[in-house]
Amino acid sequence: MIHILLIVSSLFTISTHAAVQDFCVADLKGPDTPSGYACKPPTIVTVDDFVSVGLRYAGNTSNIIKAAVTPAFSAQLPGLNGLGISIARLDLAASGVVPMHTHPGGSELLLVTQGSIVAGFISSANAVYVKTLKKGDIMVFPQGLLHFQVNAGGVTAVAFASFSSPTPGLQILDFALFANDLPSKLVEATTFLDDATVKKLKAVLGGTG
Ligand SMILES: *[C@@H]1O[C@H](CO)[C@@H](O)[C@H](O)[C@H]1NC(C)=O
Repeated sequence: MIHILLIVSSLFTISTHAAVQDFCVADLKGPDTPSGYACKPPTIVTVDDFVSVGLRYAGNTSNIIKAAVTPAFSAQLPGLNGLGISIARLDLAASGVVPMHTHPGGSELLLVTQGSIVAGFISSANAVYVKTLKKGDIMVFPQGLLHFQVNAGGVTAVAFASFSSPTPGLQILDFALFANDLPSKLVEATTFLDDATVKKLKAVLGGTG
């Protein structure tokens, strides 16, 4: 009898514990940490914490890369906090490009929904994997590897990129090299580029030093 009571009570404990852990909607008033945001009390969670309508709208591509990325990360979609996933919309105007970049925190799955995009990544062994993607095609970019997307169609392309992390991170290679105050001499020494090229790229991308 005592055994049965113990089993029943431990089952009850497990099921109430599981219910509390169904989700951890981000409390955006607190800090984002490596393990995500703290949880909003479930009593004040609503359906809108799990919905984002921001990806309905085309991003503004009037910029140097003619591209716009509209994220649905924890800040825009608090309900995905702690679930290990996220998504973003990519608008790529004619001749637009998402320059060579990495997401240190997650792998990416890209689905083209309009137009056509040349996409590729480079492995750590420097093998190149490039493909022209058409509407409906998907491509996966393994975590941390350098990759890019270039409009291949001459008309605006649209794609959705999902990530295996709510905070995949983004580092754009050219910005890392030329859009900060790393001294030109060090950029030249570490990239084997000449002085004129480094100065030109720093001027275009807003770097100093
Ligand atoms: C898009 O961005 C450009 C450059 O920042 C700005 O001039 C323009 O007003 C923006 N367009 C819209 C529709 O917001």
